[in-house]
Amino acid sequence: MRRDPELSAALHPLLAGRFSPSRFDPAGAVDDRALGLLLEAARWAPSAGNSQPWGFFTSRPGEPDHERVVRHLAPSSARWATDAGLLVVTLTRRFVEDTELLYSEFADYDLGQAVAHLTLQAEALGLASHQFRAFDLEGLTKELGPKPGWAIVSMIALGKAAEEPLATRQRRSVADLLSAPWAP
Ligand SMILES: Cc1cc2nc3c(=O)[nH]c(=O)nc-3n(C[C@H](O)[C@H](O)[C@H](O)COP(=O)(O)O)c2cc1C
Repeated sequence: MRRDPELSAALHPLLAGRFSPSRFDPAGAVDDRALGLLLEAARWAPSAGNSQPWGFFTSRPGEPDHERVVRHLAPSSARWATDAGLLVVTLTRRFVEDTELLYSEFADYDLGQAVAHLTLQAEALGLASHQFRAFDLEGLTKELGPKPGWAIVSMIALGKAAEEPLATRQRRSVADLLSAPWAP
């Protein structure tokens, strides 16, 4: 299937409008209601066996927990994530507490889907989001001390974008999505 400009144009605006800004407006606060809706969106994501293996740690500028997270950002993400109105640390429940038994084979998959729901709810609220891994995972894990079985996976910066999407953003073609996994 060739790239179809009509399909690209018909993509839902919440999907078409999403991008990961590298600048946030420091004046773009995320209020309690918006934060509640973001977590509500994650809560209603589907998951294997309804296992809901996700967890979050949220902090906003000015809150005591914000500094606990910010100090573990890598220089590359600190440049823009500190200006975001909200930082969300994402966690997945990989193991049953104090055992080596998998809690769910799909724990990371399901967390990703919950995050996708959260980021689209953010778009609906006029909030941009930028997911990232550029932080000190070991340091942040020691800082926050999740329960056994839980692991920090990523972070999300959310707030008011202070830039437009780059014109150079690229994606693999639909044809490649369908052909790449298979031998010719
Ligand atoms: C799991 C994950 C980890 C990411 N890590 C980083 C990161 O460490 N630094 C960064 O600038 N962007 C990071 N990103 C953002 C991606 O680079 C971005 O989503 C991708 O380039 C596509 O751009 P778009 O979101 O604007 O469409 C990450 C995204 C995901 C989903």
